[in-house]
Amino acid sequence: MTAPASGKLIIVSNRLPFVLKKNEQTQKWERKASAGGLVTAVAPVVVQGNGLWIGWAGVHLEDGEKIPESDPNDTTPTAGLRSDRVIPVDFDPQTFDSYYNGCCNGTFWPLFHSMPDRAQFSADSWKSYCAVNKEFASKTVGALENLSREDTDSGTPLVWLHDYHLMLAANSIRNAADEKNLKFKLGFFLHIPFPPWDIFRLFPWADEILQGMLGCDMVGFHIEDYCLNFVDCCQRRLGCRVDRKNLLVEHGGRTVRIRPLPIGIPFDRFVEMAEQAPTVISTSLQLVLGVDRLDYTKGLVHRLKAFELLLERYPQHRGKVALMQIAVPSRTDVKEYQDLKEEMDQLVGRINGRFTTPNWSPIRYIYGCVSQNDLAAFYRDSAVAMVTPLRDGMNLVAKEFVACQIKEPPGVLIVSPFAGAGEMMHEALICNPYELVEAADILHRALTMPEDERMLRMRCLRRREKIHDVDYWMRSFLKAMGTLIFEDGDDVLP
Ligand code: ADP
Ligand code: G6P
Repeated sequence: MTAPASGKLIIVSNRLPFVLKKNEQTQKWERKASAGGLVTAVAPVVVQGNGLWIGWAGVHLEDGEKIPESDPNDTTPTAGLRSDRVIPVDFDPQTFDSYYNGCCNGTFWPLFHSMPDRAQFSADSWKSYCAVNKEFASKTVGALENLSREDTDSGTPLVWLHDYHLMLAANSIRNAADEKNLKFKLGFFLHIPFPPWDIFRLFPWADEILQGMLGCDMVGFHIEDYCLNFVDCCQRRLGCRVDRKNLLVEHGGRTVRIRPLPIGIPFDRFVEMAEQAPTVISTSLQLVLGVDRLDYTKGLVHRLKAFELLLERYPQHRGKVALMQIAVPSRTDVKEYQDLKEEMDQLVGRINGRFTTPNWSPIRYIYGCVSQNDLAAFYRDSAVAMVTPLRDGMNLVAKEFVACQIKEPPGVLIVSPFAGAGEMMHEALICNPYELVEAADILHRALTMPEDERMLRMRCLRRREKIHDVDYWMRSFLKAMGTLIFEDGDDVLP
């Protein structure tokens, strides 16, 4: 991989790629890797390029307390991110709670995933969102001011804002930096879907969000549909002049580029892990794998019910197949997530109670985070991966599974058409998660698919993901920004 020149890439995201936890014995802070698509994709690029990362460390640091260095045994994507490249942003707990749990997780997450019935609208949490975005902006301007001569001599710095937590930061950064005559480029990438106009218009402060995102030079989304939704909203809500064919929006005397930039994974790293990881479960059962944050957008309840239907409709699989569901605890302070946890516990119990025999249980359910190596082994050793979200910006799990299919004959990927991944992984079995009977039939088809068909499908899937990996995504983003920050000078995309 080519590396961005030192220090000129500034990543700004709500979450740093790790949270801090206090070691009970030593009373010292330690890093714990965060799960989620954003961190998995961006962390390796920042580490390799020696960029800066501005974000929340998950805790309040007292004066004088510092971010610790990473553990030498760390195998997560953030290993090697030096503490002097990390700029923590801190807030009083009440403001942060109202911004993160209230506005980001309580409003934007459900709304942008087209689940408006789950969204709450509150003026107070919107106020906190505005305040927190201002604070992120001020840290970013501080970081730009502190860049060394060496950093700025070799090219224009790039500030890259990430995700729905920071949709208002751009204009504050632009205004403050203009006053100080700082030169930089400003890009934004949304890691979740951008909803259609009819959903987006429900948000009472929709104008501010659009204006905030248009404060950037370029705005990236995973797929073209999300770009077109955004362009549509800019035209209908703000009355902007737009060019749908070239994906341009005019606003405030500037032309903002909108680009579909589907994210990828560190493909070769997953292959390597799959080659080296020891077996985690030795079983003669055919494993159907699910790996997700415990989130209502991921279609976990639908998946369990479809699996139950499989056992009902195709009893020949009883005793021979097991669903291995790994669910990382996520946003546990939000009621919707607590309710989902309850529902999952009950459903797993009910289905296992119904079908378990002395020698076999249909569902193995891990509520927790597993290491990257174990994850690679699970991916490698499963017969089928069910990636069936009700809505998902992209979904990296589908790609990680494919990368780890190094065995012959390989497994089968089932993917939802409502995930960005479903838009482009055409050789997977496409499954509407709401159609439970159809989902059970598709699962049966996957479990009984002939070897040559599995190989053909997987070969195509792997080839695409290997080429369109995270490095390719990064390069596409930089090229779309017009920012030449790669050292080896090779042109980026064909
Ligand atoms: P999201 O961004 O909504 O969490 P993605 O599928 O795009 O969904 O990304 C999830 C990331 O988190 C993947 O890189 C995946 O490997 C990681 N992950 C998900 N579940 C677990 C788990 N139980 N243990 C460890 N990592 C996980
Ligand atoms: C998704 C979002 C990320 C977020 C991650 C984990 O991937 O796009 O921005 O970091 O979920 O969610 P959390 O709320 O724990 O940061």
